[in-house]
Amino acid sequence: MQKDEKLLDKIVSLAKRRGFVFQGSEIYGGFAGMWDYGPYGVALKNNIKNLWWKMFVDARDDVWGIDAAILMPARVWDASGHTGAGFTDPLVECAECKKRFRADHLEDKKKCPECGGMLGEERQFNLMFETRVGALEDSSAVSYLRPETAQGIFVNFKNVVDSVHPKLPFGIAQVGKAFRNEITPRDFIFRIRELEQMEIEYFVKPTDWERVFEEWREATGKWIDALGIDRAHVREVEIGDGDRAHYSKRTIDFEYEYPFGTKELSGLAYRTDYDLSNHTKHSGQDLGYFDEETKERLVPHVIEPSFGVERALLAVLCDAYREEEVNGETRVYLKLPTRLAPVKVMVSPLLKNKPELVAKAREVREAVRKVIPETAWDDNGNVGKRYRRQDEIGTPYCVTVDFDSLEKGDVTVRDRDTMEQVRVPISDLPTYLKEKIEAK
Ligand code: GAP
Repeated sequence: MQKDEKLLDKIVSLAKRRGFVFQGSEIYGGFAGMWDYGPYGVALKNNIKNLWWKMFVDARDDVWGIDAAILMPARVWDASGHTGAGFTDPLVECAECKKRFRADHLEDKKKCPECGGMLGEERQFNLMFETRVGALEDSSAVSYLRPETAQGIFVNFKNVVDSVHPKLPFGIAQVGKAFRNEITPRDFIFRIRELEQMEIEYFVKPTDWERVFEEWREATGKWIDALGIDRAHVREVEIGDGDRAHYSKRTIDFEYEYPFGTKELSGLAYRTDYDLSNHTKHSGQDLGYFDEETKERLVPHVIEPSFGVERALLAVLCDAYREEEVNGETRVYLKLPTRLAPVKVMVSPLLKNKPELVAKAREVREAVRKVIPETAWDDNGNVGKRYRRQDEIGTPYCVTVDFDSLEKGDVTVRDRDTMEQVRVPISDLPTYLKEKIEAK
């Protein structure tokens, strides 16, 4: 991708202007690391999560979905290694302005990048958000907002095995919120404190891990394709010893060329039996698996493809963003894959003060909506302005009902990418649009 230093600013501005993403608690000055999603942002996010679920749960016979609680007691995180040194980032504080920074993100570890003051000693900072649950004030009340959805899967391993009796290899999938008290949230929705993950813990026989790792590597590539992200903008990076998470024996990061640098989009890790074995030790519950074929009891090993929803959404926006000159003006549009577009079809009357046009357009909209639920109505401003607005939302097709529609029973359908306009009979419209949308 051509590196565009201003691309991130343009996307942040479009996201706000068009109702995708807003700063969290903005009217109170904003809350660092938190972002809220507007009408089109929530639709795009849901489309990404639903696509993931369809691909990795619904379309497969070997993956089961769950939805575990966000709050889990301290004992879970002691077992997983997150309360220990494994889940910390190096922190330094400026003696002058008191601002805190991630030491590994600084070029000069002695000088404050904000005020030039002296930075103090580096210390390890745990990223988990701690809270207390219940009326007791003692240590038994301490619990944590999960920093990864994965642990909700491991603690339910036995429940899933006992209830659906899956055969190895099999996976358990979950989509949900996770929380990390990042020292320096930054780059819009790239590094945030309240995030969403889409994770699969895929359980295998210990001898199969390398083969299955490769399978998930390929599956991740297909997921990136499904998001409409050009693979030329993604690279795989083998994470070396010492840089991997505390539980991983092998990790590949999928990095995307974000406008602020090539950075992690998603990860693929070989977690061995680290989690199941540690939860067995700490909970006293046997999290082994009885293999009916070999009549052996074993602790499965785990391959974990882990995807951040917001990082996927940001990569989708960056890859879809287009600017072109049209009649001396810059046209901005989001070339989103149709399956992800928050609105698939916008319908409007040419003039909103002509009741006969409005009535016909409403009728057309309802007919289209029956076949394509993600339709919108937009009668603000003139037709040109509506097209520009829908271009920025990434709406693939706009339908306009005009005076000819009343006489001839056809409408104009305008294509987002080519701006071409064709007349289509109203009676054929729902099928015409459905075929177009499914083909893209
Ligand atoms: N269960 C494994 C795990 O959590 P991770 O590499 O720490 O591994 C997985 O996180 C994915 O979650 C990342 O690849 C990224 O997409 C997303 N992610 C992690 N921390 C994030 C943050 N602070 N902001 C946004 N996304 C984040």
